[in-house]
Amino acid sequence: MSGTSNTPAPRKLRLGMIGIGVGGAEILRAIAAMDTIEVVAGADVVPETLVRFRERFPEAKTYLTAEQLCADDNVEAVWISSPNRFHAEHAILAAKHGKHVVVEKPMAISLAEAGGMVEAAEKYGIKLLAGHTRAFTVPIRAMRRVIQSGKFGDLRALNIWSYSDWMLRPRTADELDIAQGGGIPYRQGPHQVDTVRLLGGGIVRSVRAQTGAWMKERSIPGYYAAFMEFESGLPATIVHNGYGYFVGAELVPWGHDKAVYTAEQRAAIRTALRSGTRDETGEKQSIRIGGSREKEYFYDDDNAPWIPEDMGFAIASLDRADLRQSKFGVFVHDDSGKRDLRVVADHETGMVQRRAELEELYASVVHGEPLWHDGRWGMATLEVCLAIMQSARERREIMLQHQVEVPAAYDAKMQVAGL
Ligand SMILES: NC(=O)c1ccc[n+]([C@@H]2O[C@H](COP(=O)([O-])OP(=O)(O)OC[C@H]3O[C@@H](n4cnc5c(N)ncnc54)[C@H](O)[C@@H]3O)[C@@H](O)[C@H]2O)c1
Repeated sequence: MSGTSNTPAPRKLRLGMIGIGVGGAEILRAIAAMDTIEVVAGADVVPETLVRFRERFPEAKTYLTAEQLCADDNVEAVWISSPNRFHAEHAILAAKHGKHVVVEKPMAISLAEAGGMVEAAEKYGIKLLAGHTRAFTVPIRAMRRVIQSGKFGDLRALNIWSYSDWMLRPRTADELDIAQGGGIPYRQGPHQVDTVRLLGGGIVRSVRAQTGAWMKERSIPGYYAAFMEFESGLPATIVHNGYGYFVGAELVPWGHDKAVYTAEQRAAIRTALRSGTRDETGEKQSIRIGGSREKEYFYDDDNAPWIPEDMGFAIASLDRADLRQSKFGVFVHDDSGKRDLRVVADHETGMVQRRAELEELYASVVHGEPLWHDGRWGMATLEVCLAIMQSARERREIMLQHQVEVPAAYDAKMQVAGL
């Protein structure tokens, strides 16, 4: 790509980050490995975070407010990873300043907010990408390609189950308040919902779900189970249990009993939460940018094989095969046995999954290509997450109104070897 005298270096998209927290630290690591994005600014309300951000990006400007960052003429696009309750406000602010936007999941905490973001993007002519869900990861995109090939007949069922230690990780007050977008349905629902929508074609007809909140020290829901029916009649179930007694990572031969924490650490965290002795603020700041535990939290081996991380196991059943995530592609269990079909290109780096949303934004802004995960796509995913909570409250099936299709041309370059 870059670096030879004949090939000009690609134009870099100048990006600002609003909210440099745990999610922000994760994506900054991926951005640092890209030659198409330059981090030019960061905004956060915590001065210590800005100091650490400047150490990592000495050329970048830092701001204490999103308003100041959005007024910076050098910023072309923003990555919004502020707390959920600010996503709509910050996205609309950025749109008004003509900045393109990638917004973390959940896109917003209500459909009214999401609608306002879609309107602002259209009014001010900016790209709004609802990003950073596990549907962007290589195994899921490979699975979609195998389904689309038609080789194994029709798609009959989708099931995703996750067991994580999400509820035991350090949390801020807003994350522990459902009114501010806290809890597993808001925070982890978008990963599974985006994924089943991508694989199932996009249009979910209805949702019936239950949620569970059974940890006294954390009143937010740490569990949901949802049954979705697609317009086509396709059934999908998604389940996430974030209480961390059992973690799904140990279900692959190369995995172990650890998501973020070992079983012993999880037990110690429960004890500290029960006795009120846990320093959540300090612990959370230690995994943000430049923190003492940032490396341990994020800097794993880029070539490490896939394990059932927070999103869990996704299994697609077709007429003549079951598909599930593999190390760098997809396992096909069919009439001839079991095969591991790898994606072509870039899988060796293991980084594709973390960059896909930025590659999509870049291609759209710089090369005029369509933006696939736009505001309407994100709004449809949010609608399902909200329906999960509504169905649980009202104990009934919720019909959906804002669903959109996966465009047929999405991800045309994704190739799966041996298909
Ligand atoms: N896609 C993923 O895999 C993933 C992973 C982690 C977090 N996230 C998302 O990132 C967002 C933040 O979660 P987190 O875990 O990083 O929490 P966090 O608390 O670590 O990050 C939020 C950051 O925003 C800052 N902030 C608060 N108010 C602000 C304001 N008004 N203006 C600017 N900055 C402000 C905080 O100081 C903090 O640094 C959430 O939307 C979450 O869903 C996504």
